[in-house]
Amino acid sequence: MRVLILENYDRLSAWAANYIADKINAFAPDAGNPFVLGLPTGSSPLGTYRALISLYKEGKVSFRNVVTFNMDEYVGIPEDHPQSYHYFMWENFFRQIDIRPENIHILNGNAPDLVAECAAYEEAIRKARGIRLFLGGVGPDGHIAFNEPGSSLVSRTRIKTLTTDTLYANARFFDNDIARVPKTALTVGIGTIMDAEQVMILVNGHGKARALRHAIEGSISHMWTITALQMHPQAIIVCDQAATGELRTETVRYFMDIERDNL
Ligand code: GLP
Repeated sequence: MRVLILENYDRLSAWAANYIADKINAFAPDAGNPFVLGLPTGSSPLGTYRALISLYKEGKVSFRNVVTFNMDEYVGIPEDHPQSYHYFMWENFFRQIDIRPENIHILNGNAPDLVAECAAYEEAIRKARGIRLFLGGVGPDGHIAFNEPGSSLVSRTRIKTLTTDTLYANARFFDNDIARVPKTALTVGIGTIMDAEQVMILVNGHGKARALRHAIEGSISHMWTITALQMHPQAIIVCDQAATGELRTETVRYFMDIERDNL
């Protein structure tokens, strides 16, 4: 696992965006061989999306031959609801880049058959020949996508009931009214994420310090689903200093030292 510790959120976002742009450019995608990118929502990736939009506007990267798969979506809120992940992605990213709408995949939380929707999503990823780089965030309880504590570490795309912790964490987006937060979501599984060639997780702020400690120093456990990354051959954690508050000094020094030329 690589761990990049950046001074603050802006540096973290710039680092992640440059890494993604470099990966796309090195791959030299074309219509027949697109770059397949997994994407998250949440506040963590907002800075990265902003930085990617700037790189696009400066002509340093194009998304014309990029295919995307989003991690998750709430069940039962309309796509044009300001808190739907469809709305989030269009507002904060897709609308501002040159991606082709037909290359965008987001789970449909209003599909008549949610089980079939999840199976079709796995099939679409397979047909796209897998995800090259899966970008993600992490919840304060260590969940990635909506793989809540207790999720199987080999899970695939499916319906999940959200934990009370997540409902409280996300209530801030629903006028702080927990009753309005959808209680179920569709999410890629840990197994789906682990199949990606590379996984990059963004971790910022003191509120994620415990999750980061578990991710790097903890034991692999379905109670902290981010720990599955320890089994991934190409996992990258990009964090800010605030998130390292619960790591051992020795751990921080080690990663700062081995990555000092890459920061
Ligand atoms: C939600 C999303 C996750 C995200 C997490 C953290 O639960 N399903 O994908 O990582 O929130 O969100 P934030 O980045 O806003 O802290």
